[in-house]
Amino acid sequence: MIILGIDTSCDDTCVAVLKDGTEILSSVVSSQVSVHSLFGGIVPELASRKHVELIDAIYEQALREAGIVVRDVDVLAVTQGPGLIGSLLVGLCFAKGLALATGKPLVGINHVEAHGMSIFLEQRVPFPFIALVVSGGHTVILLFEETCRFRVLGSTCDDAAGEAFDKVAKFLGLGYPGGRIIEEGASGGRADAVAFPRPIIDEPNYDFSFSGLKTSFINYIGKNGFPAERSADILSSFQEAACDVLVKKTMKAAKDLGVSRIVVGGGVAANGRLRSLFAERAANQGITVHVPSPSLCMDNGAMIAVTAGCYAERGAFSPLDIKAYSRLAFGG
Ligand code: KG4
Ligand code: ZN
Repeated sequence: MIILGIDTSCDDTCVAVLKDGTEILSSVVSSQVSVHSLFGGIVPELASRKHVELIDAIYEQALREAGIVVRDVDVLAVTQGPGLIGSLLVGLCFAKGLALATGKPLVGINHVEAHGMSIFLEQRVPFPFIALVVSGGHTVILLFEETCRFRVLGSTCDDAAGEAFDKVAKFLGLGYPGGRIIEEGASGGRADAVAFPRPIIDEPNYDFSFSGLKTSFINYIGKNGFPAERSADILSSFQEAACDVLVKKTMKAAKDLGVSRIVVGGGVAANGRLRSLFAERAANQGITVHVPSPSLCMDNGAMIAVTAGCYAERGAFSPLDIKAYSRLAFGG
């Protein structure tokens, strides 16, 4: 079975071709970073205009690199939500148009579910598992009970973790997106140099809050400055505070629910400290942690296609009048 996966939920135009569930024949991701970095963050109107300009060429490139023509595609998969509505609509309309023109079945996919399922492109993790999906737009803990069935256990009350990295980098004038820049700047620094807060870390829920951490960082810099000789310590302490909360709450969910597997996905899952902290803390707890390769943590069309494969196997296709939705609550 050949599945074409399309994602335009945020600022990347992504199209991938997947064969037999997990073999990536092509995965094209066209980044808009150069457009949005001028503004230190994503400008939704510019993102949707860029998707309109690019989607057809990216689709053609994905077919070409996979060595197929559209006739060879069995299923069309597209992100329905959550995300920026204007951006989502570009991919959704494109996929619906293709479905109408070719008669191929369509599957509308939840972007957050797809981040949780992206690990299946590299390994088959038995159900049930806890998933932490952590990116610039989302910070969510989910329970995946079986294929095509998941439950949201908790999410951020304010900023997403990646957004906190991005805003801190923007505040320091370090560039966009901030996650990788902060990780690089933190390298070699002492993680306990500054005691940044870990908001709601001990509350008996699976929710997060990152805006207080960001504000506390900004206040700290306001008082103490950002001297070059202390920059690695300060960034490392910020990174540690964010990772500590993410790991602790996810581990708590796994222990409370008696689930022995954790999957991590989303752009922040590319962070080396987050990955190593999960590995350290899970080691003696009988919990295994599964994190995809960094390129599969970021937005991509292959994760949409791999998730669609599970729905297609059950014959769970979508009608052509499916709508885009901006928030996770409307997606399941
Ligand atoms: O999943 P993604 O590509 O797009 C969204 O759905 O948001 O994630 C992008 C986010 C950005 O906020 C970026 O700063 C963050 O992931 N990110 C990182 C790292 N690489 C990307 N955050 C921390 N450390 C990293 N190495
Ligand atoms: Zn994403």
